[in-house]
Amino acid sequence: MSSDTTVTEMNTPQHLAIIMDGNGRWAEKHGVARAKGHEQGGQTVQRVIDLCLEKGIKWLTLYAFSTENWGRSRIEVTYLMNMLTKYLKERLPEMMEKNVRLHAIGELYMLPKSCRKQLEENMERTKNNTGVNVVLAISYGSRQEITAAARKMAEMVQRGEISPADITPELLSNNLYTAGMPDPDLLIRTSGEMRISNYLLWQISYSELWVTDVLWPDFGREELDKALASFHGRNRRFGKR
Ligand code: IPE
Ligand code: IPE
Ligand code: MG
Repeated sequence: MSSDTTVTEMNTPQHLAIIMDGNGRWAEKHGVARAKGHEQGGQTVQRVIDLCLEKGIKWLTLYAFSTENWGRSRIEVTYLMNMLTKYLKERLPEMMEKNVRLHAIGELYMLPKSCRKQLEENMERTKNNTGVNVVLAISYGSRQEITAAARKMAEMVQRGEISPADITPELLSNNLYTAGMPDPDLLIRTSGEMRISNYLLWQISYSELWVTDVLWPDFGREELDKALASFHGRNRRFGKR
């Protein structure tokens, strides 16, 4: 590492983003239904939130359901929506106890009403918590997010509130679902796929990447530590030398 390396405090990421992939493959490997894999994946979520609290990672953004995932079978989609609603309801006391603040990004209007209501309740109840910010990306697609931001800015121009010259990267950022949140420092994808799958395209411009073959239900301390150790040694140049 060169001496002019840009290092963050102790080099722990402030914001960790995760593509939680591999529930289906985990289920296949264990000869059980996909639903069981998703259920195990839900357990991993709690484990990872606890690890973030322990390690002082202040932001954790989890890809829970993509815009494209609406194209899965109705049975699987329904299962995932019910599981999410149940998870949010059951874990609310624990979120309060552990000082977790919940946020959500995505086309939330697409969610079943009961799920959306529960999500809103969790966000409202946890809004003053300060331990860790957990951002659930649900019904989320980055291209859709950027398109919506472009539309909002076009409307601002149309209303005469801004001129086209006022459209800057900052203004665009402020019109994304993630407005006000820091960009991810580290992006982890489980289950080995070397792709982004429409996740935070704008926000990960300078994120460090880590892909592990470990399936999401098996992800835990050991794997996170490997990713953090790698991150610690990275030289984040941000285009400078
Ligand atoms: C990730 O696991 C969970 C969601 C996308 C909702 P998958 O269901 O994509 O698992 P694989 O990729 O089939 O193993
Ligand atoms: C990405 O996983 C979405 C989530 C983890 C929620 P997918 O399994 O949907 O991605 P692809 O289909 O492998 O690109
Ligand atoms: Mg997958």
